[in-house]
Amino acid sequence: MNNVEMVGHGLSGRSFASVDDFSNQELAYVLSLAADVAENREPFTDVCRGKIMASLFFEASTRTRLSFDTAMLRLGGQLVSAVDVGATSLAKGETLADMARVVGGYADLIVMRHPWEGAARVVAEYAGVPVINAGDGGHEHPTQTLCDLFTLQQERGRLQGLRIALWGDLKYGRTVHSLAFALARFGATIVFRPGSGFAAPEHVLSKLATDYGGELVHGDVLSQSEGEGVLPVDALYMTPHSPHQLAMLPHLSAQLELDRGVDALYVTRLQKERMQTQADMKPEDYPVVDRKLLRKKGFERSVVLHPLPRVDELSLDIDSDPRSLYFKQAHQGVPVRMALISLLLGCNPRTVQPTEWFGEDWRPVAHPRYVHETGIHCPNERCVANQPSELRYLPQKFVLVASTPPRLRCGYCDHETEPAVVATAEAYDEPTYRRKYHRARSRWATTIRPENLLLFASAEDAEAAGFRPGAA
Ligand code: NCD
Repeated sequence: MNNVEMVGHGLSGRSFASVDDFSNQELAYVLSLAADVAENREPFTDVCRGKIMASLFFEASTRTRLSFDTAMLRLGGQLVSAVDVGATSLAKGETLADMARVVGGYADLIVMRHPWEGAARVVAEYAGVPVINAGDGGHEHPTQTLCDLFTLQQERGRLQGLRIALWGDLKYGRTVHSLAFALARFGATIVFRPGSGFAAPEHVLSKLATDYGGELVHGDVLSQSEGEGVLPVDALYMTPHSPHQLAMLPHLSAQLELDRGVDALYVTRLQKERMQTQADMKPEDYPVVDRKLLRKKGFERSVVLHPLPRVDELSLDIDSDPRSLYFKQAHQGVPVRMALISLLLGCNPRTVQPTEWFGEDWRPVAHPRYVHETGIHCPNERCVANQPSELRYLPQKFVLVASTPPRLRCGYCDHETEPAVVATAEAYDEPTYRRKYHRARSRWATTIRPENLLLFASAEDAEAAGFRPGAA
C-alpha cells in the first residue's frame, strides 16, 4: 500500500468527535475525495448499499442534518433517525453510554448533535461503531470545518498559510472553535474580531497558544488604526513563517500582519440559544459585514464565509457580490459528508491524490494524562461529565497541559482548571504526619514530577485526603 492509500484506508472505523482526531494529511485526504465526489458522483452511487446511518439530532438543524442524510442516501445507504430528546429514552433518564451501546448495535455509523459539550466523545467511546460529531453544544463542529476548509481550498487553491478573520460570536460559536484549531494547524494567521462580550473563550485561546506552535497576541498590545481596516481586533494568532517574525516585537509583527489584509472573513451569528441573560442577547456593537465594510482596506480580496443560518450580522446587500461564498459553502456539505462517510465506513471506491501533501504531518501534542482521583471536576457546567445522568459512570478525564503552575484540560470539552493546592503521590509512602500540601503557584509545586502530582481544588479537599499544610 502506498502512502496515499494508507491515509484513506487508515480512516476506516474511526470516529470524528473533534477536528483534532484527524491529522492534517487525513483532513486533506477527505477534502480531495470530496472534490472527486463533487466532480462526478457516479462512482459513489452504491458504495454504502446495506449500511445504515443513525442520524440523531437533539438540537435544531437544517443544513447539517439534511446534508448528512442526503449524503448517506446518495451513497446508497439507509437511515434511522431521532430528532428530539423528548421522543427518545434519554428523556427517561437513560445515559448516553447506554444509548450509544444500543444504537451502535442497530446502525453502522452514528451522526449526533447534542447540547452537552463532549457528548459525541462519550458516544464514540461506547458505540462500537464510528461516531461523527455534528455539533456538541458550544464546543466543536468538526464537519462544518471540513466544509469551510473545502470552500477555502477551492477558492484559494491551498490550505496552508491562509489569513482569516473570525467575526461575531466567538464565545459560543462552535464552528469557529473547530475552524480556529484546524487553521492554526495549517499555519494560518487568525484575526479574532468578536462582538463585545463574545470573545473566544479562554480555553480556546489557551489551546491555540499551547498546542499548535504559533504565537498569540492579545488585543491590548495591538495599536488602534484610524477607522480603516479590520481593527479593533481582540486577539491575533500568528504562525511564524520566517525567523525575523519571531525576533520582532509582537505588536510590530502583528501590525504588519493586519496591514496585509485577509483572505477570508468568517462571519457567525449570535448564538442566542446558549445564553442565560436577556442583556447578552442584545449586544450593542455586534459587528455587521456589509457592502461598506467590504470596500475597506484589507478586505478587497476577502471572500465571505458563514456557516449559516444568518440573522442580522450579514447584510443581504452583499449576496450578489462574487466574494460571497456562503451558499456555495452550504452546498459543499453533501460531497464533503459523502467523502467522510464512505471513508469511515471503509466503502470508498477510489484512491485520490491529495492536492497538498504535508511532509511532516501534524499529530496532537501528547500531554500527560492526569490519572489521580483527587476530586477535581471540570469547571464547565455544560460539560457532559457534569450532567447528573452521566456523573454516575463517567470518570472526570484530564490532561496536564502545563505544570508551572499546573493546569488541567478536560478530556471531553477542553475547558481548563487550575487547582489551588498540590501534593506529591510519593507522600503516600511517608507516615501520615509528614504528608504535606502546598500552594499550586509555589516553588514546591515546581519540584514535583508530573506523574506524581496530586492536584486539589481547595486546601479543604487536600486536608480531607489526609494532607496537612506545608510550607507556602
Ligand atoms: C452552525 C451550528 O449549528 O453550529 N450551523 C451549521 O451547522 N451550519 C452555526 C449556527 O447555528 O449559527
